Amino acid sequence: MPGIKGPSDYSLEPPRHPRLKINAKEPFNAEPTRSDLITSYVTPVEFFYKRNHGPIPVVDDIERYSVSLCGLINNSKELFMKDIWKLPKYTVTATLQCAGNRRTAMSKSRTVKGVGWDIAAIGNAVWGGAKLADVLELVGIPYLTSISQSGGKHVEFVSIDKCKEENGGPYKASIPLSQATNPEADVLLAYEMNGEPLNRDHGYPLRVVVPGVIGARSVKWLESINIIADECQGFFMQKDYKMFPPTVNWDNINWSTRRSQMDFPVQSAICSLEDVSVVKHGKITIKGYAVSGGGRGIERVDLSVDGGKTWVEANRYQKTGIPYIADDSSSDRWAWVFFEAEANIPQRAEIVAKAVDISANVQPESIDSIWNLRGILNTSWHRVQVRVGQANL
Ligand code: MTE
Repeated sequence: MPGIKGPSDYSLEPPRHPRLKINAKEPFNAEPTRSDLITSYVTPVEFFYKRNHGPIPVVDDIERYSVSLCGLINNSKELFMKDIWKLPKYTVTATLQCAGNRRTAMSKSRTVKGVGWDIAAIGNAVWGGAKLADVLELVGIPYLTSISQSGGKHVEFVSIDKCKEENGGPYKASIPLSQATNPEADVLLAYEMNGEPLNRDHGYPLRVVVPGVIGARSVKWLESINIIADECQGFFMQKDYKMFPPTVNWDNINWSTRRSQMDFPVQSAICSLEDVSVVKHGKITIKGYAVSGGGRGIERVDLSVDGGKTWVEANRYQKTGIPYIADDSSSDRWAWVFFEAEANIPQRAEIVAKAVDISANVQPESIDSIWNLRGILNTSWHRVQVRVGQANL
């Protein structure tokens, strides 16, 4: 494709921050440390997790780069960056979370398949770009359309990277047309992240951002947008990122029985402590993030220092000076909240966090009840062990 290419090896990878924890080198998959993750509400680009399935594409001529709009529409269209920059620009603060976040912990219960992640396959950014709903209007699909005149019901995003799961083909995914054409769903074709042009790792020059939905649907390095009748048939929609019950194993799995995961469930994690920490005698501060999918705000975060027998409520906040109210317009509805509480710790403690969203969805207590062979959506209560001793925490 003119202007951009997807390399077939890893010789042209971009530089990355040395403090990232690398979970897989090629393709590059890395997350920040727990403490780097919670240093700011808007995650700095260098500490934003990086989740790739192939080598990072290279733009050699931005003027020639374009996205084609095709499929079930009357006239296909090529959109160059200058066309996209001309559309109204929106900024949306949205948390992206990989469905595999916290997979390592799920694997400790029973082995699962996939890249291991601690609790930081998540980040919150201010995305800038055009609304997909506005882009689709350019090809005659009005706002709030569920089925287009030509029978289109889904919008497929196709990338340029080469993924082995697609036998060297590009990464792709789709979302329902009703979501794509709903301006309130805030689906963006983003060209900026935190006020800067996207960097290569995060999809330069153009990516999709689908707020409230697992990161897998936010396709990077966009090459085409197809209006299609049925969901995208790509690997990452049909043979991955689906939630199975604990009884399904690699011998009896039938992928077609389950839906492609879209919204993510309510989640929280403690970031100020490692799995096992030694702390000084006295009060400690417990800090972390909580988030729910589908634009559902966080109603409550409960913390326990006795393994879940008794609970106290933590403070929640997003931006300094603005009280967080889960469903108020002053809050960022697609974004995480940070939580914080002080606690006196007994000699040994199991500290637990669980969040509740505005629909009263609560994180499940145990991993075993939600264990699944691909290790996705580990949203079980987050537990860390603490011992009082000689430490500089
Ligand atoms: N888009 C392309 N083209 N290739 C990919 O490998 N990975 C997806 C999604 N979009 C991916 C992609 C997954 S699984 C996630 S979680 C997010 O991108 C990660 O986005 P990030 O690397 O910007 O954090």
